[in-house]
Amino acid sequence: MTKYNFDKPVNRRNTGSVKWDAIPEDALPFWVADMDFEAAPAIKNALAERVEHGIFGYTLVDDSYYDALISWFSRRHQWTIQREWVIYTTGVVPAISCAIKALTLPGEKVLVQTPVYNCFFSSIRNQGCEIVGNQLVRTGDTYTIDWDDFETKCADEKTTVFLLCNPHNPAGRVWTSDELARMGEICAKHRVRVVSDEIHCELVMPGVTFTPFAAVNEVNSDNSVTFNSPSKNFNIAGLQIANIICKDEEMHRRIDRVVNIYEVCDVNSFGPIALKAAYNESEDWLDELNLYIADNYKLLKEYMAEHLPKTEVIKLEGTYLVWVDISKLGLTTKEATRRLLKEGKVFVSSGTLYGEKAGEGYLRINLACTRAMLREGLQRMEKVLGGTEQMG
Ligand SMILES: Cc1ncc(COP(=O)(O)O)c(C=O)c1O
Repeated sequence: MTKYNFDKPVNRRNTGSVKWDAIPEDALPFWVADMDFEAAPAIKNALAERVEHGIFGYTLVDDSYYDALISWFSRRHQWTIQREWVIYTTGVVPAISCAIKALTLPGEKVLVQTPVYNCFFSSIRNQGCEIVGNQLVRTGDTYTIDWDDFETKCADEKTTVFLLCNPHNPAGRVWTSDELARMGEICAKHRVRVVSDEIHCELVMPGVTFTPFAAVNEVNSDNSVTFNSPSKNFNIAGLQIANIICKDEEMHRRIDRVVNIYEVCDVNSFGPIALKAAYNESEDWLDELNLYIADNYKLLKEYMAEHLPKTEVIKLEGTYLVWVDISKLGLTTKEATRRLLKEGKVFVSSGTLYGEKAGEGYLRINLACTRAMLREGLQRMEKVLGGTEQMG
């Protein structure tokens, strides 16, 4: 028996939703990382109570906020965070920009593992830094790391930061403790700071374990800063609350200063309330959500294998963003996404957004919707791409 109903459709049109209202009205959205599920009841109740109070002045983040955060990571990921390591802010992307600003000089290089979340590119460029790609290696239906290339790029004295994505969007990997230790060792050896975006950390498939980079060993915790938020995991991205967690005092001081200079140090009245309700009261909701997403992934995989056999679905260990190889269909990614929208009325993300080279031949599909919508979307995709399969 399940407690929560993720099959319940919610009309999000005309609610100021980026996912739904920024695309044509007759199209179904499978793009931006935002879920179509109502937030957990504890979050809705806590917010309703706060609204009822009726005054929304400047917000003080109190002890109960830190307690909720620290207790969650200790319980769920065996990671002991000290309160003085934490800086709260409005979002992970602003936090990444602040960290790059704080830890680099203009003209230095920031390493990323492509294909990777597109805002990484703008965060790096906007701070006047250069993007360096350690392209992930497609190995069967998953991705691995080219370690020689990783080390060569870290050894370049102009490389000062490695921007890690764990779980990896869009490659679907949840990096193992061994992989994280090896990344950490190479970065420490070459004095490259690790900036770890762990925003998708709760969204893992059954049987997969997420390990925070900083929790692996002291080498990692002393040389890194981690970003986290309940926003993706609990579908509260619009409430804009995130945390920067950094043990090293000097890095912490420099990042805190930039967070203040960039004026992203004040959060709204609702973010901390939602974070506490999520971490203190919504664990069972999250566990059920992950099972629902796992079933959606299974549906997509089976559907594609049967109806679009020339596509290959990449193994999903974490996130709800599935990466699909369409390179054998005989059309470019740009053409595929254009036709999917125009002829099929489905909006998916083009792989090239995540790296021109590493993403060509791929689509990213957001699975965090009702099963009925996913089924409808798959049928629409088949109508467009199925034709190309026969031609190709
Ligand atoms: C890896 C990753 N980091 C950060 C974000 C966005 O973070 P925020 O909304 O807190 O700025 C996303 C959203 O898709 C993401 O996938």
